Amino acid sequence: MEQGFQLFPRQASTFATHVDRLYLFLTGISAFFSVLIFGVIIVFAIRYRRRPGHEAIQVEDAFSLEILWTAVPAFLTLGIFVWSSSLFLYQSIPPKGARDISVVGQRWMWKIQHSNGRREINELHVPSGQAVKLTLTSQDVIHSFYVPAFRMKQDAIPGQYRTLWFEATTPGEYHLFCAEYCGTNHSRMTGRIVVMSDVDYQSWLGGGMEHTPVETGKQLFTQFDCASCHESGERRRCPTLGGLYGTQVELESGQKVLFDESYVRESVLDPNAKVAKGFPAVMPSFRGQVSEEQMLDLIAYIKSLAPQQQRELVEGANR
Ligand code: CUA
Repeated sequence: MEQGFQLFPRQASTFATHVDRLYLFLTGISAFFSVLIFGVIIVFAIRYRRRPGHEAIQVEDAFSLEILWTAVPAFLTLGIFVWSSSLFLYQSIPPKGARDISVVGQRWMWKIQHSNGRREINELHVPSGQAVKLTLTSQDVIHSFYVPAFRMKQDAIPGQYRTLWFEATTPGEYHLFCAEYCGTNHSRMTGRIVVMSDVDYQSWLGGGMEHTPVETGKQLFTQFDCASCHESGERRRCPTLGGLYGTQVELESGQKVLFDESYVRESVLDPNAKVAKGFPAVMPSFRGQVSEEQMLDLIAYIKSLAPQQQRELVEGANR
């Protein structure tokens, strides 16, 4: 990790140089205009001070001057808007094929699970040179996932899923902070990001013999007896879930909602909030029975169900 005094943290992600460039531009332009304005105030105060024999004159019709001081700031601010919003969009939309990792903030630690099921706490191992997508939520209060070297910060909000992505460029260790006051040990809610070469990461990832989120989700699906209703073909009282992920679900009201992480989560905790059209509101709530980590596993399992798989299950039940 970095040593001694540094004006900027190290640049260790693909965003870092872009963010720093924009930051330096904003600082530079603010400094330039501050110096200009204060310089002119001082020069004019001396040059045009009250003296005997000098009268103030009212200046009128300075049209070109008006245009100048309207157009210059307008173009500058528009330029800043375009520049910063394109950077914001670049940071907001994870590229396809990014490696999925889930992060749950809980007073006062970060719980992380990789796509093969390997878990860690307050440490995040990632390969360098690859896009990594984090799905972020909180078990209790608002936390904020902050990695200065990546120029990346995102709130972890209870009841919501936020995604963020990055591509680490340089192997090494970097600080992870919680950047939202979350109680007594907020200042200790820190960790480290370990960026490794792809080969090292693969061997690290293989080091833990654990179930993948999909496998754990499947177990939970059985444990909570979801299948008794959601998978049987004939006595089907609930929608089959295969292939639904990412599609639009029609509700009784005719309104359509996206079947995504948030919809699954809401339907597990508050099943009657948005019941799919044509189905009775018979599902019990699982509030208090499913932790945020289990919820992410359940979602991973439901996500993994292909339409075909579900059709086979249904056909199997019909036979
Ligand atoms: Cu978690 Cu501050």
